[in-house]
Parts: sequence; structure tokens; C-alpha cells
Amino acid sequence: MSGNHTTSELEPFGHGGDIETASSRFGIQANAWLDYSANINPLGPPVQVMDALNDAFRSIVNYPDPAHRQLKRLLADKLNVSTDNLLIGNGAAECMALALLGLDIHKVGIVAPCFSEYAQLADDYGAEVLTVIGKEEIGFRADIADLLPLLSEVDLLFLGQPNNPTGLTYSLEQLRTIARRAEQCSTYIVLDEAFIDFIAPDQRETLLPELANYPHVILIHSMTKFYAIPGLRLGYAIAEPRLIQRMARKQVTWSVNGLALLAGQACLQPEVAAYEAHTRELIGVERKFLQEQLTHRLGWQVWPGEANFLLVRVAEPWTASLLQQALGPKAVMIRSCAMYEGLTERDIRIAVRGREDNERLLQAFQDVDRIRKESR
Ligand SMILES: Cc1ncc(COP(=O)(O)O)c(C=O)c1O
Repeated sequence: MSGNHTTSELEPFGHGGDIETASSRFGIQANAWLDYSANINPLGPPVQVMDALNDAFRSIVNYPDPAHRQLKRLLADKLNVSTDNLLIGNGAAECMALALLGLDIHKVGIVAPCFSEYAQLADDYGAEVLTVIGKEEIGFRADIADLLPLLSEVDLLFLGQPNNPTGLTYSLEQLRTIARRAEQCSTYIVLDEAFIDFIAPDQRETLLPELANYPHVILIHSMTKFYAIPGLRLGYAIAEPRLIQRMARKQVTWSVNGLALLAGQACLQPEVAAYEAHTRELIGVERKFLQEQLTHRLGWQVWPGEANFLLVRVAEPWTASLLQQALGPKAVMIRSCAMYEGLTERDIRIAVRGREDNERLLQAFQDVDRIRKESR
């Protein structure tokens, strides 16, 4: 077990989507980039969100509701939980921070490779990080036998469901085993479901319907990815009311702004169901297309992720960094995964976007690959 998280030249803050850095590095204006490094719904926000925001600008003279009551009521109905089970945050990231702060966490467990903020936040708040390295042969998931002892050593374990950057999930049975063990050791489990909306409701492996059995489990959702509002920031946590209260006590009043609340409420209107279905259909088709093309056209290894991104191991002599440098002048951004503990310098993550963009990405990959072969 160890702890480690580093950054790369194009990801100095440890995340994809850093158009500012890419623009200054390659001298290309911000709006020209084809961004495959951040995982945002390629359809953009639902029209209901744009309409709500167009009408909302006058409301910026008012303070947002510090108790987020309307959004909580709509979410409670959708998720079939009580409003007392809900905490609204400035992105899923704030909910994670509030779990660490509110639950007085000193030792955090992670399964590498995983979202870098788990370890970053732990570090920021002075908690020690214990890492289990996921096994490549099981899609970089932890062996459950390795995970159970970790639970008795840490105060809180983060697990991505689906995990970033692999896009893979644990089965419901595995989640139950982990959650039962966590209850025995009084260890909190944060199941980060930031990308679960990209999976069809009847195919999701989630503890949500049985959360009452697990008072140490916290589910965290993001609305920024699926509804394409990362600039507004919106996420929420679902947990037992006493945990929610402890987390909420550490939240800065009004940290969730009024426009984000209105956008969130618009996302929960019944008419948005068509957009949700369209998103899942598009992502399913395009993910399969990218998987096939990357495997057959380029001979690269692709993991069978279930979210709106794919983990890819590029063929030698490419490395993630060389590929980023080659794609930069073409205004294409991809995410290097070289800095993820447990992955290699040949690993990249790409988003799943619409067909036209995906064709452009594949063409860019093929062009740089051909140029490299010709120059040998
Ligand atoms: C796995 C995972 N969880 C949470 C987040 C943060 O989500 P938000 O933008 O809602 O804070 C990210 C962002 O990239 C992520 O990859």
C-alpha cells in the first residue's frame, strides 16, 4: 500500500479539460479545441436548462436558497429518498470534501487507478492515504479479498462506480460484501456514482434502493457531466440523515449558486427524460464504435468501460505524452493516464462524443500514426 499522485505538462492541476494550459502551450485559441480529455455529455445541456438560465439572469440579485429546498424536493422524488437523505454540493467534488471534513476522517483508502481528487482532498485535509492497486486482469478493480482488510485500517474508502479512468464497475454482490464489511468496522464508504447516469437505470449496479441497510455508505452523484454543466458545478450526496447533517455543517453557506440550483431543477423536469434516453443511446453506440475502430484501425487495447469515456493502451512506440504533443497542433486534447498509480505511460483516456467528432479524433490518431511510421 502506498500513496502517490502527480501531474503532467498539459494537466498541471491533475485533471483533463484544461483548455487554458493547452491553448497557451500550442498557441491555439480556446474555442478551437476538440476536447477529448474531459468527459462531458456531447449533446450539451438539455434545452430546458438553457431556457431556465435565459430566464434566470434577473435572479442573480437574490441570494440562493441556502437549504436548496426546491432542488432537494425534486431529487427526493426522483430517487425515492427523503430530502433529509440529501446534501446538495458545488459539484460532486464539494460533496467529497464535505465527507472528509464532516465525518472527521484521518485515514482514507483508495483503489488505484482512480479519480485523483480522492487522494488530493485527503492530502489537503491532512488525512493519510492507503492505496490498494487494482489488478489489471480484472480491469484494475481491487480484488475483494485485498479490499476487506483495508476497510479495517481506514476511516473512509472511496470507490468509483463506475471508476474513472477505467469506466468499470463492481457487481452489486461485491458492493454488498464491501458495504457489510464497512458496517462491521464502522468505516465509511463513498461510492462515487458521478458517471452512473450514463448507464441505463435497469443495468446499474447501485446500493441506492437498499441504502437504509448501510448507514456508513454515502453515494455521490455529479450533475455536471451527464447534464453538461461543469462550469456551473452541481452534485449531491445521498446518505443517512445524521451523516448528511454532519457534512452539511461544514459547508460554506451559499456555496451552491442560484444559477446552478435553477439548472439542476430544470434537469429534473419530466420532459428531460427524452434527452436522458437520447444521451444513453448515443453514448452506447459511439462507445462501441470507438472501441471497434481503436482496436481494429489502430491496434490499440481498449477496456470495456460503461461510462462516457474509454481507457486505452496505445501501441509502442507511442506514449500518452508523445501522443498529446502530436495531437496538440491539430487542436485535439486527450487525457494522459501516465500519472495514475497502477497505469503505464502508454495509457490514455478519451471521452465518447458524437460521430463527427469521433471520426475527427480517429483521423487525427491515424494521421499522427502514419507520420510517425513514415519518419522511422
Ligand atoms: C469520478 C469523478 N467523480 C467526481 C468528479 C467531480 O465531479 P463534479 O464536476 O461534479 O465536481 C469527477 C470529475 O472529473 C470525476 O471524474
